[in-house]
Amino acid sequence: MTPSRIKSAPAIALAAAFVLPLLLVLGAGTGTGQDRPGAKPAVPGQDWTAESHDRTSFPLVGKHRTLGCRECHINLVFEGTPTDCEVCHWQRRQDDRYSLRLGTRCSDCHTPQSWKKVDPALWSHEVNVGFRLEGVHRTLDCEDCHGSGGFTAQSPDCFACHESDYRSTRDPNHVEAGFPTSCPSCHDQRDWENASFEHTGEFVLQGRHASASCSDCHEGGVYQGTSPECASCHLVDYQGTTDPNHSAAGFPLDCEQCHGTAATGWEGADFDHAFPIASGRHSVACSECHQTSDYRVFTCLGCHGQTETNNRHSGVTGYSYSSTACYACHPNGQG
Ligand code: HEC
Ligand code: HEC
Ligand code: HEC
Ligand code: HEC
Ligand code: HEC
Ligand code: HEC
Ligand code: HEC
Ligand code: HEC
Ligand code: HEC
Ligand code: HEC
Ligand code: HEC
Ligand code: HEC
Repeated sequence: MTPSRIKSAPAIALAAAFVLPLLLVLGAGTGTGQDRPGAKPAVPGQDWTAESHDRTSFPLVGKHRTLGCRECHINLVFEGTPTDCEVCHWQRRQDDRYSLRLGTRCSDCHTPQSWKKVDPALWSHEVNVGFRLEGVHRTLDCEDCHGSGGFTAQSPDCFACHESDYRSTRDPNHVEAGFPTSCPSCHDQRDWENASFEHTGEFVLQGRHASASCSDCHEGGVYQGTSPECASCHLVDYQGTTDPNHSAAGFPLDCEQCHGTAATGWEGADFDHAFPIASGRHSVACSECHQTSDYRVFTCLGCHGQTETNNRHSGVTGYSYSSTACYACHPNGQG
């Protein structure tokens, strides 16, 4: 049977004459008896199921396929059944949570699968509106940004909605730091922490400097005029050194020279020591050679015993068993 036959007046007349009274007897509830999808035809002489419906311009998909015929064909009138979502879902029953504020063309954004899952292929805030909702914004109700009035265009500028957040910042105080109000240059929409702040200028934040909080270096929210000199922040560390004692060794205050800028830790300093101690036999604690805090003084004799060393130098003119002599003949620590 072709659907076109059913549209014909005689069929409708038959339906009115025979089926309606029959259904009244069977009970008017929806989704029962002959009214169930897949059940015997509700129209005499017809063999109509949800599958037959697929040949109409309105195939039954999603939730629609589970409905009883009469939910859409009121009083089993087939002709003139509206195909427009809005007629059934707003004019017949007010299903739109947003009361048409998003428009009357439900199918621009929804399918009969579910109202809740708006298929991003149909509509998404990013593509259709040009403002991608991410992070916390995804979890908000539309009304949190749009109010209850309607979906009018909002300014996509973060500052327009977050000005008071900007003004109330304390660590760092954005106003005092003179931060620009273009939040995305440092923030995304996930949270306000984990800002990606590019410390411009020569002083690159790395190692412990990167994990330190702004206020560790910018006390009291003062940003302008912070000195990049290591000693301006680390003088106390310098003065507290014992191994080696920096002030006794007369180390310069330019920590970078030996400690670099990685700021991972004070160990493994790299400094220009004429006598090679960076590797090999002589890569030992400073105190093996410098037994006092005066780094001009050193000894070789703690390791190079007298008898053995003397034996090694039989016949060497000018040899004497003293550290300055050792260094004078072996400035590179080699034979
Ligand atoms: C979700 C709503 C919905 C449900 C449920 C539904 N229909 Fe329909 N039906 C429609 C719409 C809309 C049309 C109009 C399609 C068109 O104009 O091409 C239609 C058309 C028809 C037609 C007429 C076809 C034509 O060519 O004029 C018949 C017959 C019909 N439906 C039978 C059924 C039967 C039987 C059931 C139950 C198994 C059923 N429908 C369930 C919405 C529904
Ligand atoms: C411009 C796109 C758009 C149009 C047009 C539109 N909607 Fe929606 N609708 C949405 C979005 C987006 C949501 C929110 C979905 C979410 O919460 O994830 C929604 C939510 C809903 C919900 C609430 C779902 C729930 O359980 O939270 C219903 C019901 C609904 N729409 C019905 C309709 C009806 C009926 C129409 C047509 C009259 C319609 N919508 C038109 C985009 C639209
Ligand atoms: C001929 C009337 C009719 C038309 C046209 C129609 N629907 Fe429906 N639809 C219904 C009925 C009746 C229900 C069942 C309502 C209920 O139980 O909540 C339903 C259910 C739904 C549901 C499931 C609601 C839920 O509770 O899960 C969605 C989603 C839906 N329709 C979307 C659409 C969309 C999108 C269109 C347009 C493409 C559309 N409908 C066209 C009558 C219609
Ligand atoms: C974090 C805030 C925020 C949330 C949450 C939000 N929107 Fe928006 N929306 C905006 C902004 C900002 C614009 C304007 C974007 C532009 O013009 O570039 C906009 C624009 C729109 C527009 C276009 C309005 C017009 O007239 O151009 C629609 C429709 C819309 N949103 C629907 C929704 C829906 C539906 C939801 C809930 C699912 C939602 N929005 C949630 C911020 C939001
Ligand atoms: C149309 C208004 C609107 C716009 C535009 C907007 N937001 Fe939001 N945003 C909100 C609302 C409403 C909230 C939830 C309430 C709150 O926490 O302030 C929120 C929350 C947030 C949060 C979470 C705050 C928290 O406490 O966890 C972050 C981060 C955020 N927005 C960043 C941004 C960024 C970055 C931009 C610019 C790309 C932006 N927002 C643009 C309205 C907006
Ligand atoms: C130049 C970079 C930069 C810009 C631009 C910027 N911020 Fe921040 N913001 C930061 C940094 C860095 C933090 C500290 C992050 C942390 O604690 O991990 C921060 C933290 C915050 C905090 C939490 C700290 C507090 O004291 O409350 C808020 C809220 C905040 N920003 C809001 C904003 C808003 C709103 C804008 C735009 C109007 C903005 N920020 C622009 C760098 C920036
Ligand atoms: C380890 C120390 C250190 C930390 C941590 C640090 N800064 Fe700095 N900051 C400096 C130094 C040093 C300068 C000066 C750089 C220069 O002169 O090249 C500076 C300069 C600045 C300036 C430029 C001020 C001006 O003169 O215009 C701003 C803004 C700034 N810092 C913000 C921050 C923020 C925000 C944080 C936290 C995310 C932060 N700083 C963390 C050491 C630090
Ligand atoms: C504006 C202040 C400031 C300046 C300038 C500064 N630092 Fe730091 N530095 C800090 C802070 C704050 C920490 C983290 C807290 C701490 O461990 O003392 C730190 C940590 C370190 C650490 C890790 C210490 C540890 O215990 O692991 C090293 C190494 C370091 N800095 C080296 C340097 C060097 C080298 C320079 C010069 C290139 C320098 N710092 C410049 C403030 C500064
Ligand atoms: C001439 C090279 C040199 C200079 C300049 C230098 N250091 Fe060192 N520093 C070293 C050496 C070598 C060590 C020992 C490294 C090891 O144990 O691996 C060291 C170790 C340290 C230690 C850990 C040892 C202890 O006793 O606590 C601290 C803290 C330290 N330096 C701070 C500083 C500071 C702060 C500055 C700048 C104000 C500085 N240093 C400048 C060579 C230098
Ligand atoms: C194997 C022996 C040896 C070890 C180990 C050693 N030094 Fe030396 N150090 C010398 C000798 C020899 C000299 C003299 C030649 C020179 O300047 O390198 C010297 C010179 C110095 C000077 C220069 C003193 C001056 O004349 O102003 C400093 C500073 C110094 N050492 C620091 C250290 C530190 C810090 C360590 C540990 C990281 C260390 N030394 C480990 C043998 C050693
Ligand atoms: C911590 C112990 C220690 C100290 C202090 C020490 N040395 Fe050595 N040195 C050794 C050891 C171990 C060897 C390899 C065994 C050997 O040849 O005696 C060695 C080897 C040498 C060699 C021979 C290298 C070769 O190529 O075979 C020379 C030359 C030398 N040391 C010079 C010195 C001088 C000069 C000093 C003092 C500035 C010094 N050493 C301080 C442990 C030390
Ligand atoms: C006048 C220069 C001179 C002095 C001072 C001197 N040496 Fe030597 N040293 C030599 C020469 C030359 C040789 C090579 C001897 C040979 O191969 O027969 C040598 C060999 C050595 C060797 C063995 C190297 C090898 O390749 O086997 C060691 C270890 C050594 N000296 C350590 C010392 C120590 C420690 C001192 C100080 C106590 C010292 N020397 C003082 C000139 C000197």
